Amino acid sequence: MSVHSQLSVDESTVILAIETSCDETAASVVMGGTDVVSSIVSSQIDLHARFGGVVPEIASRAHLDLLGPIVREALDVAGVEARRVDAVAATYGPGLVGALLVGVSAAKALAFAWDVPFVGVNHLEAHLYAGLLDDPSLEFPMVFMLVSGGHTMLIEMSDHGRYRLLGRTIDDAAGEAFDKVARFLGLGYPGGPAIDRLSAEGDPRAIDFPRAMLHDGLDFSFSGLKTSVMNHVRKNPSVSTPDVAASFQTAVVDVLVSKAMRAADQTGARAVVLGGGVAANSELRRRFTEVCESSGRRGLLPSRAMCTDNAAMIGAAAWYRLRDHGAMGLDTGASPNLRLVAGEVTS
Ligand code: KG4
Ligand code: ZN
Repeated sequence: MSVHSQLSVDESTVILAIETSCDETAASVVMGGTDVVSSIVSSQIDLHARFGGVVPEIASRAHLDLLGPIVREALDVAGVEARRVDAVAATYGPGLVGALLVGVSAAKALAFAWDVPFVGVNHLEAHLYAGLLDDPSLEFPMVFMLVSGGHTMLIEMSDHGRYRLLGRTIDDAAGEAFDKVARFLGLGYPGGPAIDRLSAEGDPRAIDFPRAMLHDGLDFSFSGLKTSVMNHVRKNPSVSTPDVAASFQTAVVDVLVSKAMRAADQTGARAVVLGGGVAANSELRRRFTEVCESSGRRGLLPSRAMCTDNAAMIGAAAWYRLRDHGAMGLDTGASPNLRLVAGEVTS
């Protein structure tokens, strides 16, 4: 614990946050936990696209090249001088170890040079806090559905930092299913946005793909759906690709929305927060909003830019961490398998 643990954390506390856990290099200035003063995201998609997925070594090297200028830009856009920064935060897990190390090392170096606290942030917790940026007036318990490239989980949040696992995928994550189906359909990488776009031209009722475990508890399974899409296309080579994309997307969304509502029923939660890259999906956003309205629940849906990886959500989560637990030591390392709750699995 550092000498900064006594820092008083309030609405004027300025945090410089850094995110480098996967293929986005991002920096942001966040004040008071919810006021996003600047948020700069540089995607490495072009570097990885020709390999059909993220190449860890390329990601680390790109973070090294990009992070300095991105941090500079975040401070410039915010109009904030280094001496106004009260703390520096970075994602320290889960993620690619080499990529995480770039952000963690830079954040610790800046914290040391500026003599301010360092805060390590759990990337999964940050996705949750992205949902609270617009309206932090929380009503506990809440249900958080995290749908990203590596995770699909339902979590009960009974207070800041208090989480219980309600359900999780037993095979592929939702984003992984989007990416694998897109690759099979020849739509490129990343697959989620490509399927989202193409689905607008297709009929979501054209093919009745399976909704695995729809009426069965709070766990998920997407690998059978992926196989079913592949089998259907192999058997029907002239099938319309937009119809396949739209029917696949609707099957995923049916399961996600129905499980999120079941989790809210079981826990008595009045609010449901959606987070992670798949929460940028148009159909999921539409159906989630509709079902929350019709069931009288508060649905917290981050803007699309806050669903995919960014550093503003790291700054938001860092503010609560700093307020409730104080600074972290400069001996904090990258933690590639960091968990949010017991029982969680990473695909
Ligand atoms: O949260 P995220 O940016 O990175 C991780 O922490 O994993 O999520 C990335 C995932 C990818 O699988 C990507 O295909 C998916 O989110 N994704 C989408 C959309 N935008 C991103 N999936 C469906 N529809 C989208 N519009
Ligand atoms: Zn993420």
